Amino acid sequence: MGSLPYSPYCVSFNNSPLRTPRKIRMVCIGSGFSGLTLAYKIIFENKLTDLIDFTIYEKEKSVGGTWLVNHYPGLKCDVPIHAYNLPWAPKHDWTTYYACGAEIRGYIEDVTRKFGLDEYIQFESRMVEATWDEGTAKWKLKIQRDGQIIEDECDIFVGATGTQRQPNPPDIPGLQSFKGPVLHTGNWDDSADCRNKKIAVIGNGSSGVQVFTALQKEATSITHYIRSPTWISLNYMSQYTRNGDGQNFAFTDEEKANFRNNPKELLAYRKKLEDTSIRLFKTLIFDGTCQEVKAEFRKTLTRVMKERVQGQPGLADKLLPTFQPWCRRLTPADGYLEALQEANASLTNTPIDAVTPTGIRLRGGEEKDYDVIVTATGFVNNRVMPWKMHGRNGTSMHELFKKNPDAYLSICIPQMPNYFAVGCGPNFPIANGPVLSALDWICSYVIRWTKKLMREDIKAMCVKTDAVEAYNIYIQEILRRTAWNRECNSWYKTGTKDEYRTGISAIYPGSLHHLREMLECDIRGEDFDFTYRSNNKFRFLGNGMAGIDADDDNDLAFHIDHTYKLENMI
Ligand SMILES: Cc1cc2nc3c(=O)[nH]c(=O)nc-3n(C[C@H](O)[C@H](O)[C@H](O)COP(=O)(O)OP(=O)(O)OC[C@H]3O[C@@H](n4cnc5c(N)ncnc54)[C@H](O)[C@@H]3O)c2cc1C
Ligand SMILES: NC(=O)c1ccc[n+]([C@@H]2O[C@H](COP(=O)([O-])OP(=O)(O)OC[C@H]3O[C@@H](n4cnc5c(N)ncnc54)[C@H](OP(=O)(O)O)[C@@H]3O)[C@@H](O)[C@H]2O)c1
Repeated sequence: MGSLPYSPYCVSFNNSPLRTPRKIRMVCIGSGFSGLTLAYKIIFENKLTDLIDFTIYEKEKSVGGTWLVNHYPGLKCDVPIHAYNLPWAPKHDWTTYYACGAEIRGYIEDVTRKFGLDEYIQFESRMVEATWDEGTAKWKLKIQRDGQIIEDECDIFVGATGTQRQPNPPDIPGLQSFKGPVLHTGNWDDSADCRNKKIAVIGNGSSGVQVFTALQKEATSITHYIRSPTWISLNYMSQYTRNGDGQNFAFTDEEKANFRNNPKELLAYRKKLEDTSIRLFKTLIFDGTCQEVKAEFRKTLTRVMKERVQGQPGLADKLLPTFQPWCRRLTPADGYLEALQEANASLTNTPIDAVTPTGIRLRGGEEKDYDVIVTATGFVNNRVMPWKMHGRNGTSMHELFKKNPDAYLSICIPQMPNYFAVGCGPNFPIANGPVLSALDWICSYVIRWTKKLMREDIKAMCVKTDAVEAYNIYIQEILRRTAWNRECNSWYKTGTKDEYRTGISAIYPGSLHHLREMLECDIRGEDFDFTYRSNNKFRFLGNGMAGIDADDDNDLAFHIDHTYKLENMI
């Protein structure tokens, strides 16, 4: 008998049933809503702890992310809190319709405790470097703890670091020379006493209007320095507040007890809010639909803003934008317009020329002295992970994202095999509807890929560069047709603007269900490159047995149940 012809696919026999999973190690960075959702799904929803050795590294002392780090006066969730709940851990007894930051932080701590998630978290551990090793198909990690560098490695690496993590102080000459405290909303110093002080607040995003409203109450004087007008909207989903006027309200003990005793009512209430929130893309954001609703909404906003600032002629002119509502996020802030009209308050839109040791000098020379400067100027928005990251062929994440941060569904990044960004990638749905639902679906997507990798003998999966390029060119066509693309300053626009691109790099281009269907319907393997652990990608076929064959007690005819139709009997 002659020798067999050589085949590059020859491989040792795999004597295990079809798709027998291998064990892997997964490391996730960050224990905010994203990291905790991933943990819950691995441990409880998918019961994968026998197969996935899972660790979260968190740089802070505790869980909470955004809601731990941000604690400026007035911090609130300005969307109804029942629409900002982890879908898998609904809370029945929220105190108010719009919850304060401290209560959200407490909720995250309660959830962590209830599910024992902290067992999987290593706190005060800052990820500083991640390097892909092609030979072993592992991410080699460096983590800083207690001044030491700890090394670790993993098969699947997940970034869950949020998008708003690094406060961005304003680039105003002389800011460093100011003699009093300069506080940033994203890095608040709780020991700073703002009572009976002359305060300047710079920036009128959501943080700026909230902190201004809170500080005004006890300030000697307070001035709001704004660069752009903004829609001080009706509160989000104000139609469901007590009088339909958007005023925050406390849930009664009876309402809370009812939610506890009748979980179906809590579910129905949450669904009403979730549904309303998801509809916003169609009604107010996408250009091609609901023109009358958009026009009516703008008229209502204009009327309400004018009515609410009647006490101060000229204020409406400074505040009312010319751009379309939703171009940037609406900034409701309960009581802000009223606070602006108090005797100790003022607003200026004259550009700031410089900060002096004692105050602020405006263009034109006018100067005013302050005791405290509050910067509410947002966060660094470049989507680069806050650690050195080198992927396939030494590709640097920083270089890759320098011109345009381009990802695939906000999650996968070219040249970064076995890496997933959860909630922190480019064009993530940060304002397309309930964020926590989007995070939930993205975590399920990560787990789906992880299962595939474990069961199909895959060494590495990596999104193809041309798929990412095509995806990003196309999503710009959708984004071009949205309110986000109108003429306004917003942190959604931090990419390049050219003939193909709008510059919008921070927001998903569709409705929330558009994303869900993309994630759930088809994993689209054609957009990915794969390498395998052997030279035959079908080695996962194993020994010819399916898992179900292994146990003699299994019902090997279960498939008939699904197709059996008595009415079709012949
Ligand atoms: C002031 C403020 C208010 C907001 N209000 C709302 C709202 O009302 N509704 C809404 O939908 N969204 C709101 N957002 C957006 C909010 O950030 C998200 O809804 C959500 O909390 C993000 O969760 P996350 O887990 O993805 O990120 P985060 O909550 O930011 O958590 C990321 C975690 O990663 C950790 N981390 C970062 N870098 C490292 C590192 N190198 N090593 C280790 N750990 C690291 C951080 O410490 C943090 O714990 C708000 C954001 C801000 C800033
Ligand atoms: N849901 C909530 O209740 C809530 C509360 C707080 C924050 N958030 C979220 O947190 C994120 C960050 O919000 P944010 O308000 O902190 O930041 P932001 O939305 O980025 O707003 C920053 C503000 O600072 C101004 N600014 C920036 N640099 C400046 C400079 N050099 N000089 C003068 N003004 C300057 C900006 O003016 P321009 O407009 O002219 O650029 C803008 O008004 C957003 O996603 C927001 O939705 C949500």
